[in-house]
Amino acid sequence: MSAGRQAYNRGMFDAVLRFLADEVNAFMLRRTGDSEQVRMVPSRLVNEQGNPVVADGSLAISLFQIEEERALREPLPERVVQQGRELQRPPPLRLNLLVVVAARVAAYDVALARLALAVRCFHAKPVHTPADSPGLPPGLASQHFHDGVQVGSVLRVKAPAGQFFIDPEDDTPAVLIAGGIGITPLLCMLKTCLLRKPQRALHLFYGVRNGSEQAFRPALQQLAAQHPALRLTVAYSRPAEHERQGRDYQHRGHLDVALLQRSLGAGRHLYYLCGPPAMMQSLVPALLASGVPQQDLHYEAFGPATVPAAAVTAASASASTRSEPLELRFQLSGRTLLWDGRDASLLDFAERQGVALESACRSGGCGTCETRVLQGEVVYAQRPMHEIAPGHCLLCVGRPATALVLEA
Ligand code: FES
Repeated sequence: MSAGRQAYNRGMFDAVLRFLADEVNAFMLRRTGDSEQVRMVPSRLVNEQGNPVVADGSLAISLFQIEEERALREPLPERVVQQGRELQRPPPLRLNLLVVVAARVAAYDVALARLALAVRCFHAKPVHTPADSPGLPPGLASQHFHDGVQVGSVLRVKAPAGQFFIDPEDDTPAVLIAGGIGITPLLCMLKTCLLRKPQRALHLFYGVRNGSEQAFRPALQQLAAQHPALRLTVAYSRPAEHERQGRDYQHRGHLDVALLQRSLGAGRHLYYLCGPPAMMQSLVPALLASGVPQQDLHYEAFGPATVPAAAVTAASASASTRSEPLELRFQLSGRTLLWDGRDASLLDFAERQGVALESACRSGGCGTCETRVLQGEVVYAQRPMHEIAPGHCLLCVGRPATALVLEA
């Protein structure tokens, strides 16, 4: 390999390692909230003399080996037509980078926790592409299905679970609030209600950035035109230059309680929300604070749910008022830790301490995080949706009432 080519590759892989280090640092910051944390830097591990060169108080990421992987779905070069000429594009190149991560931190348990977080970051986002936006994990499930699932693959599946459904026979006015692709389940609810009880008052509030993100536009317009009992409000938070209020959308800005209160009449309403975490985190607590009873509020976050954690935090004063630390033993993980009350749930606490646990919905709906309670008592701010087996608990929505020994 020529010296120029070698220098080019070195530069490219330095950039990749910098990118990966940034990803891990952003991940650790999100998980720990600690900006003073031990940070990862691209670095050699030893110098020519074989002496360690990792800076004190840091994690180092270093390239160990590179493997090229060209066995993708399309074995033949892809043919494309560009400006009238047919070109052949080679299949995309994918590289497996084997990296070594080392910690040089005085406190052994801190080093261990940071290394565990780094590993979790790569589990959470195993594939990186140049088009990635740092800090935004891609759809892990769809990526897994694209890359790893073929005809003949054996999948472990769970039955559908959750309580996010509407009673189509109920007459109570319903308010459906969707953000982005969260419109998908709400559209099904809407159609079912319109079919079964077309006279029921229905309000659909649909928030997106602008028309380029608005799904099902013709279908929704048609439903609104056909059903006088349906009131459709589309909100654009950042309308494009050519988009006009009143023609393309009804409200400029995010969906909020003030808009709902202006638009809805007096009387009881049932609320159904589905959208991205930011929308759920702002709207669910705001609706509760505005006096909507908990039992009239139904929601499902699109992606790992963060609303219940926030709700638990708010309710934590009553759920776990103890200020003294509690000893928590995670049996299978072999860790004994002190609960300091800072976290919304046992799962958040364990992850912050570098204990890797299985989870999915993070909102008490699926049972993935269910584990046996060997000793002690777990409390919940509100009854979880998932039916918990006797002697077990849900880590994602539970908090300790006493010292605990958990099987996880
Ligand atoms: S992760 Fe789904 S119930 Fe805890």
